[in-house]
Amino acid sequence: MPATVVVGTQWGDEGKGKFTDLVAREMHQVVRYQGGHNAGHTLVVDGQSFALQLCPSGILYPHITPIIGNGVVVDPRVLLAEMEMLRSKGVDPSNLRVSGNAHLILPYHQELDRLIERRLGSRKLGTTKRGIGPAYADKASRVGIRVQDLLDPKIFRAKLEGLAREKNAVLAKVFNQLPLDPDEIAAEYLDVCAPALAPHIADTVTLVHEALEAGQQVLFEGAQATFLDLDHGTYPFVTSSNPVAGGVCTGAGVGPRYIDRVIGVAKAYVTRVGTGPFPTELAISSEAIGGKPAAAASDEEIRLGDHFVEVGREYGTVTGRRRRPGWFDAVMLRQAVRLNSLSELAITKLDILDDLDSVKVCVAYEINGERVTHLPYHQSDLHAAVPVYEELPGWKTPLSETTDAAALPAAAEAYLAFLEDQVGVPVTLVGVGPGREQYVQRHAG
Ligand code: IMP
Repeated sequence: MPATVVVGTQWGDEGKGKFTDLVAREMHQVVRYQGGHNAGHTLVVDGQSFALQLCPSGILYPHITPIIGNGVVVDPRVLLAEMEMLRSKGVDPSNLRVSGNAHLILPYHQELDRLIERRLGSRKLGTTKRGIGPAYADKASRVGIRVQDLLDPKIFRAKLEGLAREKNAVLAKVFNQLPLDPDEIAAEYLDVCAPALAPHIADTVTLVHEALEAGQQVLFEGAQATFLDLDHGTYPFVTSSNPVAGGVCTGAGVGPRYIDRVIGVAKAYVTRVGTGPFPTELAISSEAIGGKPAAAASDEEIRLGDHFVEVGREYGTVTGRRRRPGWFDAVMLRQAVRLNSLSELAITKLDILDDLDSVKVCVAYEINGERVTHLPYHQSDLHAAVPVYEELPGWKTPLSETTDAAALPAAAEAYLAFLEDQVGVPVTLVGVGPGREQYVQRHAG
C-alpha cells in the first residue's frame, strides 16, 4: 500500500522537514493533516532557503500535488503570503489544493490566543500565539468557519456575525478589550482572500483517494509532534490537534489500512519550546520559557545545555524563541513507537554530539524510588521522574561529510545501535548536517 507518514516523536523541531523533503521526492502527493502556521520548517534547495509554515514541503517539486487537508487550521492571509513568497523565488504554487472542510483562523482567534496566554501569566503554555487553540476550540464547539465558506459570502457573513457577537462580548467583558469589526474581517477574507484562494479549494479527500486507488505514493506530513498531541502529549502543555500518525485518518480522511510506512523523526538529543514537563532537561545559561533554572544546575550541566542550544542552533523558526535542551529519552521514544506504530526511526542532528566525550541516553525513570521503563500516565509522576542514564563513549569525529553508513565511526554506530535496541525499531536515516544531502542511510528504508 502506498501511504507513508512522517511524524515527530518528541516535542517538535526534530528536523522533520529534512527527511520529509527526502522522502517527498518519490511521492505524487504530500498532505498536511493537522496544525496550522504554528509549524515552521526551513528547506534549503539549490542554495535558496524556503521557510514554510502552512504549505506541505512537497510544494517545491513540480511533480507533486501539495495538499492541505481538512484537519489543518488555515489563516488564509498567511497562506497567500506564503504562496507569494514561493512565486517570488520561482516556485509555482498553482498545484496547491486546500480542503474546503479545513477551518479558518480568524483575527479573533489570534487575539484570544494572545490574551489567554497573558491572563495565564506564569502558568502560560507558551503557545505560538497564532490562534491555533481558539480556532480548534471553535471547530469542536461547531461554530467554526470553514474554508468552503469563503466561496459563499452570504453564509460566511451570517456565521461571522454570530461569532463576532460572542467573541466581541468576551473581548470586552473578560479581557477589557475593544471589539473587532466584523465588516473589516469580511472585507479582507471575502474580497481579498476568497478570490485568490478559490482556485485552490477542493475536495481533498477525493483527491487523496483517487491517488491511493491509482497506486500512487502519498506522503502525510506531520507538524508538531507526538508529545504535543492533544490526547497523548503532556496535556495541557500541548497543541490543539493530533500530530500522531492516527491523526492522518481524521485529518486527511484516510483509513488506517492504507498506511504501511510510518517514519518517526527524533533528534539525537531532545528539545522543547514552551512550558511543560521534560525529564531529561538540562539547564542553560540564558532564559528559555518554562526552562529549568540555571541556579539549580552544575556548571557542567549548563555547559552541555548551552552546547545543544548554540551548536544545535536551537532557536524557533516561527517565534525565534530559545528551545529547552536535554538528553535523548528512550522512555518517551518507546511510547512514541507505540502511539504511532512506527516502522522506522530517522535520527537528526547526530553531528551536534560530535565534540562530546560521552553521550547519555535516558533508559528508565526513577519515580518515588521505583524504576519504570514506560512513560507514566500521570503527569505528576512525569514531573517527579528522575532520568536513569546509560553513558556511551563519544566519537570525537566530525560527521558532517559522512554519507556512507560504513564510514560512521564505531562509537557513533554503537550509539545508533543502542537507540535501536532501546526503542525496538530500526534507525534507517541519520542526519549529519543541515544540507539536503547531509544524511546517512543505514538500512533500506
Ligand atoms: P500552539 O500550537 O501555538 O497552540 O502552542 C502549543 C504548544 O505547542 C506550545 O508549547 C508551543 O511551543 C508548541 N508548538 C506548537 N507548534 C510547534 C512546533 O512546530 N514546534 C515546536 N513546538 C510547537
